[in-house]
Amino acid sequence: MAHRLVKTLAAAIAVTGLSIGAAQAAGGSAKELKDVEFSHSGPFGTYDRHAVQRGFQVYKEVCSACHGMEYVAYRNLTEIGFSEDQVKAIAAEYTVTDGPNNDGDMFDRPARPSDKFPSPFPNPQAAAASNGGVAPPDLSLMTKARPNGDAYVYSLLTGYGEKDAEGHELTCPEGTYVNPYFVSGHCIAMAPPIDDDLVEYADGTAATKSQIASDVSAFMAWAAEPKMEERKQMGVKVILFLIFLSVLLYLAKKRIWGRLH
Ligand code: HEC
Repeated sequence: MAHRLVKTLAAAIAVTGLSIGAAQAAGGSAKELKDVEFSHSGPFGTYDRHAVQRGFQVYKEVCSACHGMEYVAYRNLTEIGFSEDQVKAIAAEYTVTDGPNNDGDMFDRPARPSDKFPSPFPNPQAAAASNGGVAPPDLSLMTKARPNGDAYVYSLLTGYGEKDAEGHELTCPEGTYVNPYFVSGHCIAMAPPIDDDLVEYADGTAATKSQIASDVSAFMAWAAEPKMEERKQMGVKVILFLIFLSVLLYLAKKRIWGRLH
């Protein structure tokens, strides 16, 4: 009986392991991601507020034409250093659909700080129809949805037209674009969205393609995990506490056993 149980368990573990492996193989991008440094990487890393603000500017001026961020509200922007008045002004530039009103009709109004970044399309079908049949996904949690998400977004944005990992030239059907970093095959329906000097940064930073890609990746990382810094600080506190507790227990043990000698 026990023998059978062990065998069943072993088989179950093997199957789980295999399917996880297969899922990783299918989900992993074809080409190894580019080596890019973010201030928020590592156990003590924090977001670079200036980079995240620049990244928001890129999202606002470029990406928001196609991608919504339905889990980020304008008022969250105060967490990356915008003042309440700035947030009000940013929100007012957008129009959101609200309602129904007393006549049962939906109506448009300027966005308020409590509104979320809207999708630019009224529904997924319209989004797909305007983008060669593939709806641009919501970007709120994108850096969490892809392994190594910040480096992934950076590599994707700067990796158009590159050769594959073995150095082979890649080709794609009409309406899709070569990108060896894309998770599902190397042909992506998003046209290269950024280029050098596409935006003019409010803080005067030179807007190279690589700078733009890295800033918008940092912004997306913040959007997906705004509480990361608190999580890391808590980790450090827990470790310090455990060290303190270990010392205390060691001294207590010595004292108690010391009496027996
Ligand atoms: C003209 C419309 C358009 C613009 C502008 C645009 N995208 Fe996209 N994006 C798309 C479409 C369409 C897809 C879906 C591609 C696919 O699945 O083949 C997509 C997919 C993505 C993905 C998901 C890739 C994946 O792994 O599934 C990311 C990340 C992304 N876009 C980031 C950005 C960023 C960042 C910007 C701004 C710098 C941007 N996009 C601007 C249309 C756009």
